[in-house]
Amino acid sequence: MNARNLIDLDHISQNDLEEVIRLAGIIKENPSYYIDDCHGNIMATLFYEPSTRTQMSFQTAMLRLGGKLIGFDNPSNSSVSKGESLKDTIRVVSNYADIIVIRNSFEGSALAASMYSRCPIINAGDGGHLHPTQTLTDLVTLSYEKGRLDHLTIGLCGDNKNGRTVHSLIKALSKYEGNRFVMISTPELKVPDYIIEHLKEKGSEFSFADNLEDAISSLDVLYMTRIQRERFASQKEYEAQKGVFVLDEKKIKLAKPDLRILHPLPRVDEITVGVDDDPRAKYFEQTEYGMFARMALIIKMLENRNSRLPDKVCDTHDCKCTNLRCITQTEEYLPAIFKQTDEYLVCKYCEHAMKK
Ligand code: NCD
Repeated sequence: MNARNLIDLDHISQNDLEEVIRLAGIIKENPSYYIDDCHGNIMATLFYEPSTRTQMSFQTAMLRLGGKLIGFDNPSNSSVSKGESLKDTIRVVSNYADIIVIRNSFEGSALAASMYSRCPIINAGDGGHLHPTQTLTDLVTLSYEKGRLDHLTIGLCGDNKNGRTVHSLIKALSKYEGNRFVMISTPELKVPDYIIEHLKEKGSEFSFADNLEDAISSLDVLYMTRIQRERFASQKEYEAQKGVFVLDEKKIKLAKPDLRILHPLPRVDEITVGVDDDPRAKYFEQTEYGMFARMALIIKMLENRNSRLPDKVCDTHDCKCTNLRCITQTEEYLPAIFKQTDEYLVCKYCEHAMKK
């Protein structure tokens, strides 16, 4: 694998991505061949935000490869609570670990961490921005469960605005030919503009729907997400969105027999428990695919590691990103880095676009 870090699946080549998916399949069939693959290596898991599946699947993946673990999942027990910057934490931990997995509530935090790390960084979720290893999980699940990653009609239903798994998945699946996206949400929870721009750039077909019942019959894949309570400004705003889209036994009667229902979990109330026994519901199997996906990723990333500080960023700007959820808001030493388009400056950390 050529990339040093996994911040965004867009940063790794299609070949490398397919290699990881393929390896995940091989590991799934022969897990015992890999029990010593990462012997002598240490993974640090730095979880500044709550997690069950992502953190535990990384941990079990590393342990099943013969590696060891360090880290925290409660930053108040670490020097973060004393006011340590992300940069300092990463410089220290990357002296102790061979690979770091980080989840943080600020958008762009994994990219920021990678700028100061001596070892590879894996983004395990940066606020409402991206979640590339959940997407790897989703791709491995789909390649098994549908037998292909192209020519699929994919419905994304729930919190398309704040659901980082949704953003990463759309970006990844838009690279495959013939995929169509049906984005099912309230107007308030529509996907961010940068995702729509991305779909336009890729020439992918997409549409919006506000009714799951009407949309479900055309779908090959239904990706449900919970309303991301922690990303709302107030409880009142959250309550207004909660419970709008619920997948139940009545609605799945309208779906194709080979529909596959995915969910990154945790589920709140957006899928009734009655759906769990339907053979089309694959969200619990998905968690197991995720473990194999992460095992494959760790192997590939450690194969290619090089222990050095990344190059200094040169191309900086004088302005500041205006997205209040961007990591540059709190870690003020970070260089201001933007991509330029004719009309916009796009923050490289969080992809927020500002008119020039
Ligand atoms: C997701 C996440 O953290 O973004 N969960 C996960 O990683 N499996 C989805 C969510 O929290 O709703």
